[in-house]
Amino acid sequence: MYYSEDLIEEIRLRNDIVDVISGYVKLQRKGSSYFGLCPFHNEKSPSFSVSPDKQMYYCFGCGAGGNVFTFIMEYENYTFPEAVKFLADRAGIELPSQERNEQMRQQQDLKTQILNLNKQAANYYYYQLYTENGTQAMEYLKERGLSAETIKKFGLGFSNKYSDDLYRYLKKKGVSDEMLKQSGLMNVDERHGMYDKFWNRVIFPIQDIHGRVIGFGGRVMGDGKPKYLNSPETIVFDKSRNLYGLNVARTSRKRYFLLCEGYMDVISMHQAGFTNAVASLGTALTTQQASLIKRYVEEVILTYDSDEAGRKAALRAIPILKAAGITAKVLHMEPYKDPDECIKAEGAEKFQERIDKAQNSFLFEISVLEKNYQMSDPQSKTAFFREVAAKLMEFEQELERENYIEAIAVHYGVGFENLRKMVNQLAMKGYVPKTEEYRKERKVPEKEDGMKKSQRLLLTWLIEYPDLFETVKQYISPEDFTEELYCTVAEMLYEQQERGELNPAKIINYFNDPQQQRQVAELFNTTVLVETKESLEKAVKETIARVMENSLSHRTATLEPTDLAGLQKLVADKRKMQGLAKMTIHISDRR
Ligand code: CTP
Ligand code: MN
Repeated sequence: MYYSEDLIEEIRLRNDIVDVISGYVKLQRKGSSYFGLCPFHNEKSPSFSVSPDKQMYYCFGCGAGGNVFTFIMEYENYTFPEAVKFLADRAGIELPSQERNEQMRQQQDLKTQILNLNKQAANYYYYQLYTENGTQAMEYLKERGLSAETIKKFGLGFSNKYSDDLYRYLKKKGVSDEMLKQSGLMNVDERHGMYDKFWNRVIFPIQDIHGRVIGFGGRVMGDGKPKYLNSPETIVFDKSRNLYGLNVARTSRKRYFLLCEGYMDVISMHQAGFTNAVASLGTALTTQQASLIKRYVEEVILTYDSDEAGRKAALRAIPILKAAGITAKVLHMEPYKDPDECIKAEGAEKFQERIDKAQNSFLFEISVLEKNYQMSDPQSKTAFFREVAAKLMEFEQELERENYIEAIAVHYGVGFENLRKMVNQLAMKGYVPKTEEYRKERKVPEKEDGMKKSQRLLLTWLIEYPDLFETVKQYISPEDFTEELYCTVAEMLYEQQERGELNPAKIINYFNDPQQQRQVAELFNTTVLVETKESLEKAVKETIARVMENSLSHRTATLEPTDLAGLQKLVADKRKMQGLAKMTIHISDRR
């Protein structure tokens, strides 16, 4: 770690978690916690909680959780050192200047190192484009209509014809093979060893929302195959959570984004003044990308290719956007293939007109559906309307549904009342609209065994009712938590308790990986439904017994025959366990 434990803790203390998160999520007080809509998954009713007492957040829907550092890392996509810097600045704490000696460089966390490496590679590719070697690539880009300014703005580059060009460059800078392997910049195989992933390609650096280079796309100049090569996923490159062009689009101040398929489409649109264009990274749109978009805008205009693949992609994207609470519209590109071609042929003004005329996503879906039917045949036409009626049931609000029924009735020249009747008949048959499936899609934490839950419950109660500690510690010591992470956390919690300074959010500081931080947050946010204090007391007692029993049988199974001390403790604990039955547990109020 860069900074001392004390400094990290001070920064944490000076950034109240409710204050910080309020800057991102609208929170409302409910009892001892605040609740809001989770920024890490799509939801309509709030299950995201922030506790001022624990100084932690936890989402009961998707399990996201941690302390204020975790939140900033996850939300801003920052590394730990970056989150520390961000929160230090926010609290007006000056960080000691860092001497970047060799040892510290080694200690830098992996993410920061790989981001650094990507930056060096991006600079290198960029530089190559402007040398003699890069002439052909430069000509290619110019021929595709990109201005010198655009090429600079997107940091486009060129990877040389040799397969070890970047490798040798980075080796000279002292980068280790292991690091290169993890960066995704190199291929490794038995026959050739390690060599550049990209060669003789135009390079598109992919940036995250903060403009850090997280990966690369490389295009052949001309018709070679594959047309594009992309970096593999790495510790800093999660394709499902980033969008090409978002670093610029998010500052465009438009109320909608243009969502397209490719690098060149984004760049063309930006060059023509549509700086709100973004693209998913060669994959279908994901729910995470939809949540990301929702942070900035409430409307998306789909500008996918006009071919069959583009239409299919739009059909897949619409429900995902809808589930995230985003209105979608579809831009008609015909007779052109994609935004790049369309803008080149018609210019920016005409493209804006196409944006203004973009089609409502529901009506688009219906128009695609229509293609499966023969509208001149009465039977086929009726079947079509039956399907339309089923789709119309997606709209829960009556007024909205009626508006759509009307729009469709007018468009196809059928009677409004007839269509409405059809919809109502389906509703009476108890037909469940498809949208339900998407709503259910959200991640429910995997069902795991009750023992783990008992251990988590106990840890949660220990911080929510600190007075319990005196009783609990007579029966249970940290080693009785059989999950490794739980045991580590219990040790820290017991130590804090002994010192009389309960501080769960500080415990999270000791874990570097946001995944682990999330698990720790879960340990302190486990609940069961109990209605009265008596039933809570009963539940506590039963939980203690369960955790003890588990530990006893675990130890019995693994005890070495020669371990006398272990055996004695086992016998003593078994006796204690019998004593527990006669015990009554009293719980004073929450802290
Ligand atoms: N793509 C990819 N690998 C391929 C082909 C496509 O990763 N072999 C991804 C790229 O992100 C590309 C997007 O899918 O930008 C859309 O593909 P396509 O329409 O073929 O690319 P364009 O951006 O239109 O490319 P160009 O205009 O350069 O032909
Ligand atoms: Mn295309």
